[in-house]
Amino acid sequence: MEVVIVDRPGDGAALVAGAIAALVALRDAPVLGLATGGTPQPVYDRLADDCSAGRLSLAGASAFLLDEYVGLPAGHPASYRQVIEREVVARTDLRSEAVHAPDVAGEERELPAACARYDDAIDAAGGVDLQLLGVGSDGHIGFNEPGSSLGSRTRLKTLTARTRADNARFFDGDPEAVPHHVVTQGIGTILAARHLVLLAWGDGKAEIVARLVEGPVSASVPASALQLHHHVTVIVDEPAASRL
Ligand code: GLP
Repeated sequence: MEVVIVDRPGDGAALVAGAIAALVALRDAPVLGLATGGTPQPVYDRLADDCSAGRLSLAGASAFLLDEYVGLPAGHPASYRQVIEREVVARTDLRSEAVHAPDVAGEERELPAACARYDDAIDAAGGVDLQLLGVGSDGHIGFNEPGSSLGSRTRLKTLTARTRADNARFFDGDPEAVPHHVVTQGIGTILAARHLVLLAWGDGKAEIVARLVEGPVSASVPASALQLHHHVTVIVDEPAASRL
């Protein structure tokens, strides 16, 4: 695991944009794994800048989202599909048709088959080349809450009260408006990507960054499973690195 400490999130975003540019130069059809939450925003801002300046093209790329809320009305602004449409597709040349999100539209009983199809679609695309990750304050990656199996695949999960409170800021501050259920890539699905890039900013993430980098590998800190992967880059600012 490589840990890179940067002065500012923007510097970390430049590193990620550089890695994506190198990937685009290397592969005809690069596959990106996109994350949501506040953490990747500087990366999406940087990709938008690089694309509009002609320094980068994502026209040949495809993307798979880590996770999605279940039960939001179609087109809800907080749905992760909509976030990526707004923050990436609308501001770069990544094609909307090339962006894949877990299919949460059907009845609950149809979800297991939809989850299996999502894992199959990732495999059919050749797997994810570069997976962006944030980390929840409880150590979740995607929406794999503590206790998730380290070998899990895409599936339905229930959010903890803590995660719903953390994410209330995307729902006008109302934790009750945050869905209880989500579909998330499993930890095993995430670990199948060829390069994992986890980002964390601010002292609120310092404790969990220390546990994921230095602590034991444990299902109680899902992000610690990254220690099992052969190619991981953790990019943090000074405050997020302060407990390392
Ligand atoms: C959500 C997402 C995660 C993300 C986490 C951290 O729960 N499902 O993918 O890593 O939030 O959010 P933030 O980046 O806003 O701290």
